[in-house]
Order: sequence, then structure tokens, then C-alpha cells
Amino acid sequence: MSETIGIVGMGVMGKNIALNFSDNGVNVVLFNKSEKKINNLIDKSSKKNIYGFTQLDEFVNYIEKPRKILLMVPSGEATNSISKELFNLLEPEDILIDGGNSFYKDSIELGNKCKEKNISFIGMGVSGGETGARHGPALMLGSSDDIPENLLSMIKSISAKSSYGDCVGVYKGYGTGHFIKMLHNGIEYAEMQILAESYSILKSSNLSNIEISNFFKSLKEKNQSSYLIEISSEIIKKKTNNEYLIDNIKPIANNKGTGKLTVETSLEYNFPLPSIYEAFNARVESHFQKIWPKVTHSKNLNVNLNKIENTIYFARLSTLIQGILFIEHFSNKESLEIKIPEVLQNWLSGCIIRSDLLQEIKEIYEGISTDSSIVEIEEIQNQLEEKLDDMKITINECVESQVAIPVIYSSYNWYINSSNNFNPSSLIQAQRDFFGAHMVQLLNEDEFIHLDWV
Ligand code: 6PG
Repeated sequence: MSETIGIVGMGVMGKNIALNFSDNGVNVVLFNKSEKKINNLIDKSSKKNIYGFTQLDEFVNYIEKPRKILLMVPSGEATNSISKELFNLLEPEDILIDGGNSFYKDSIELGNKCKEKNISFIGMGVSGGETGARHGPALMLGSSDDIPENLLSMIKSISAKSSYGDCVGVYKGYGTGHFIKMLHNGIEYAEMQILAESYSILKSSNLSNIEISNFFKSLKEKNQSSYLIEISSEIIKKKTNNEYLIDNIKPIANNKGTGKLTVETSLEYNFPLPSIYEAFNARVESHFQKIWPKVTHSKNLNVNLNKIENTIYFARLSTLIQGILFIEHFSNKESLEIKIPEVLQNWLSGCIIRSDLLQEIKEIYEGISTDSSIVEIEEIQNQLEEKLDDMKITINECVESQVAIPVIYSSYNWYINSSNNFNPSSLIQAQRDFFGAHMVQLLNEDEFIHLDWV
């Protein structure tokens, strides 16, 4: 007998996930207030296994028990209000899945509310945009309940596949799937900004749009590409009415908040994610351009494409390491036992940050103990070291030519700081102790003491 899933929400993601389930032989029961929307989707399906209801109680009653209901509605208010309504209709052992971009703490709260009612809950991060949802997204599941095998195989059937298998991660804790998705988005912000900065460097080097597009495209042959690099190559060369589209887009970047939540969460845990901070800040800063009486111009750069390639690699790897370190830290603090190779597999295909780099790092993990922290893997540090000289040349040239590269530079600074044998923070502690008696720790001592400075 075929399985059935109930889906609430018919936005871009909800509609495409519904069609994806339908294609994979899962009966889909939809809830939407608009009968027209439901009928449009039924018409689009190549199968005859989609049903729809405009009344929530009829929708719930139609689904066989234990019901599996997937929410594909905007995070926050919309998710909370539909969950509240569903609570009155669902029965013990039913399973509620939140597939929106919910903040992980909201998923923990919703999961706990479900638990009180004996309803199972899964917080499921979905990545891959419209095409991913339709043909294979990366799915990040978090639950404190056992996920039934039949549900897991339904979910796997719609997911993206990689050389290591389905891109479905199953993590312990109601909020952990959404936490992993949030970090995915933080890394996404930094990767996007690294490409924007590279675009700026190449523009200042007087490369034409076609040349820049070709440069990004060429990274594919060298196994240095990514989904974001590929779409950037397409975007930069796209013309309408003989004009490049990109040249007619306002350089003001918006966000829906997941990058900000990544930054806020890392600050709450006192954990550094500088490349992601800078990437988020770059979007904010783009709203405050040309604020001075005099407008300045970047000078011509004399770029070496090989060095830019290595700079992009370095900055992307540095960002990825920062993100993975935060996942390791969060996992230890919250006793979640998150396995990094599993996260890497989760992101190998379908999601927005899928890339050759992730494949490469996943392969490196194959040969080591999974308990090693990413910064204990020599091969990974060697990759950064190999590209370091080219990175320095690019940074020097950008400084000389007045090209802003906040994420590239911060990825470099983070590596230098986190690997260097000297850190000047002793002076910060001394200053704090000098003016405020905030105390210092002497080398090899645990105790905090106030020193006599005058
Ligand atoms: C994904 C994307 C997706 C979406 C972001 C956009 O993994 O499919 O990350 O979740 O693109 O919500 O986020 P911003 O509007 O904040 O850029």
C-alpha cells in the first residue's frame, strides 16, 4: 500500500515538494484555503495521487493514522498558528514535520509542545530552492522521537542523492535539523559574498562580463566549482536587450534573517564565525553606500586568475571550517553527538552550498577517525597553507587598488589568528585590569588576579 503525506502550505517550496512526493509514489493530501490552487497543482502532477481539502478538519480526517503532516509554511507566526489549530485535530502518535526555515529554538519549543500531546515532531531543514524541492532537496531532520522507517524512506525517496547516498541527515534533538540548516545558510551567505568580492576584483581588473563568467565556469574542469559558482557564471553573462542584466540590478542586498540568526547564535555561544559576520554585514552595509561627499574609485588591478582561484578556495575553506567548528562546539555543549561526515554528506547534493570542496572534505574525512575535530586534520591545514601566498598577494593588491574584500580578508585573518603562536589579547586583559580591576590570568595559572599597575 502506498504511503500518504499531508502537506500544509502551497508556496513555492510546498508545491514542489508535493509534486516530488507524488512522483515518488507517495499519496499527497493538501490543505489550502484556495480550491483553485489545489486544482492547479493536481493538474500539474503526472500522477493521480494528489488530493486536496480547503477545511483543516476534513484534511486531517482524510489522512490515515498515524498521520504524517508536513508544514511548508513561513517560519514564526504562520508555523505557530497552524500548529495550534492542528493540535486540536491531531491524535497521539501522529507526526508533525516542520519543513519551513524555522529558528532551531522555535523547533525545540514546538517539539516539546507536541511531546506533551504525545505527537511526534521533526524539525526539518530543507535546502535547494524551487528546483531542489521539485527534484531532490537536501533534508536536515532533527527529532527527539524515533522516526519510523516508512516515514524515513518516504523522505529519502524525494531527497537529493550523492556518491555517498541520500542527502538526508538525521540528528538528535527537535531543533538540530534546523540548526544545521541555519549553519548551512550562514555558510551560504559567506560563499555568496566571496563570489561577489571576486566579481569586484575581476571587474577592477577590467575583465569583461564574458571573461568573468568564463573564469567562474573554468573552475568546473578543475574540480573547484560549486552550485553558487555555476549560477554566478550564468548570471554575469546573461543579457536582455543587448545589456547585461547584472549591470542593471541595484547593488543592495537583502536577507530573510537566517544569516543574522547564525551570527546571533554564535555570539550567544561566544564562538567566532568572522567570515559569516562579515558576509551578513556586507549585506547590511550595501544599504549605506556612497554616504560621503566625495565618491572614490577602485584603481586598476593586475589580476592573475590562478591566484584568484586559490584565493576563492582559501576563503571558502576557511569559512567552511569556521562553520564546522561551530557545529562541533554546539554539539559538545548540547550533547548532540553530531557527526561531521554526516553533515558533509547531508550537504553534498541538492542544497545551495553543494560543491566540489564539500566532496573533497568529505573524502578527507573518510580516512580519519570521525571524532577528530576538523582543525586536527593536517591535510586540511595543508590545503590552506598551500594557498596562503596567493591569498596574501590578492589581499595586497586589493588594498593597493582600494577594492573592498571583507569576507576574503576576514577568512585570511581568522586562519592567521587561529594558527599563530602569538596573540596580543594579553594587552586587552591588562588594559581591562588597569582601568577596571577586571583581573588577568598569568601564564600556566587558572586563578584570576588583579595586578598592581601603578
Ligand atoms: C536554501 C536557501 C533558502 C533561501 C534562503 C534565502 O538552502 O534553499 O538557503 O533557505 O534561499 O532563505 O535567504 P536570504 O533571503 O536570507 O538570503
